[in-house]
Amino acid sequence: MSDATPIADRTEVPASGSYRFTAADAFGNETEVILVPCEEDPGVRAWVNNCTHEDQRFDTGRGAAIRDGEIICPRHGSMFDACSGECDNGQASGTALPGVDIAVEDDTVLLTDEHYEYLHDGGVNDGDDGPGSTSHISF
Ligand code: FES
Repeated sequence: MSDATPIADRTEVPASGSYRFTAADAFGNETEVILVPCEEDPGVRAWVNNCTHEDQRFDTGRGAAIRDGEIICPRHGSMFDACSGECDNGQASGTALPGVDIAVEDDTVLLTDEHYEYLHDGGVNDGDDGPGSTSHISF
C-alpha cells in the first residue's frame, strides 16, 4: 500500500455538497475526485467527479448537489447513492461511480488508494496557474 496523503479536514466536507480535489491516476492522468458526506462509517466517501452516463462533472466548482444522501447529476438528474456510488434511476441507471479509497484519521481525510496520487485541492485546471492569473472573462 502507498503512503496515505492528507486531503482535507473532515469538517471541510459540506453536509450537502462536496469537497473537490485533483489526483493523478495510474496512467498519470489528472482526475477530479469529490469527497461527499455518507452516513456510514467513516462518514465520507470519495468518487471520481464524473457521471457514468456522459462526460458531466458533478462538482463544477461550487460543490455537487446532494439531497437525501444522493449525488444528483446536473445534466439529466440521475441520482447516485453517496455511500455506495450506485444509481438505479434515470439515464445512468444500473451503473456505479468509480470509487477512490480513503481513510479518516483524527478527523483528517487521507488518500489511501494506491492507484491515485494526490496533486492539489480544487479542479484539474485549478493547479495550473497562480492565484488571480485566470479570468472568467474571455474574448
Ligand atoms: S450525464 Fe449524468 S445522467 Fe446524463
